[in-house]
Amino acid sequence: MATQDELKKAAGIEAAKLVKDGMTVGLGTGSTVRFLVDELGRRVQEEGLNFTGVTTSLRTKEQAEGYGIKIIDIDDVDHIDVTIDGADEVDARFDGIKGGGAALLWEKIVATNSDKIVWIVDASKVVNVIGKFPLPVEVIPFGAGQVVKKFEAKGYKPVLRLDAQGEPVRTDEKNFVVDLHLERIDHPQELAADLINTVGVVEHGLFLNMVDTVIVGDEAGPRVLTNPHK
Ligand code: A5P
Repeated sequence: MATQDELKKAAGIEAAKLVKDGMTVGLGTGSTVRFLVDELGRRVQEEGLNFTGVTTSLRTKEQAEGYGIKIIDIDDVDHIDVTIDGADEVDARFDGIKGGGAALLWEKIVATNSDKIVWIVDASKVVNVIGKFPLPVEVIPFGAGQVVKKFEAKGYKPVLRLDAQGEPVRTDEKNFVVDLHLERIDHPQELAADLINTVGVVEHGLFLNMVDTVIVGDEAGPRVLTNPHK
């Protein structure tokens, strides 16, 4: 049986085939995307692939630049052909949760400026109902405790994300992340509206009907799911 990492790698390598010379490509964040960037880096170095990347985190930028991949600032592109990113969960409606790696804000900004969005996941991320994975919400540090109290009152079961030293995790924008332990999200649109209308919230990890294609690393090989609603 393949390991989770092998499935992630297979999805990443499959997605790398979508990248062609001259493209501008959004590069996501996370352990699955690391495999994608490794493969793109290999193609740049061995095959002379020539594309430009727009990164969704400082981590990905550093990895990509290490391979000599050209990285451009999001404000300097006129369009992004495709963004390839990971996800924490995705359901049959193509609704997903992202932000397990705390990069949700930049990921959503890059995604919403892309012609096409592709997610790469291992098979364990495909679920019937999203929400088992704690939903990340990026909040401004000032008054974050008050936001947490509001979420508690609503039964959202918030937990401020801490690092190994017990300090609040900081995003690349120096914000905090609050994870909502909801177990299941039956009405994601309503929840998304409530979260984004909470003062102090910068962005949340619900990516609803945004993705065009999901490449699933499966035992039998990469499986491509196409969103029929887009
Ligand atoms: C980063 O903040 C996330 O949105 C990742 O894309 C997501 O958590 C998937 O990460 P892995 O590929 O590491 O599972």
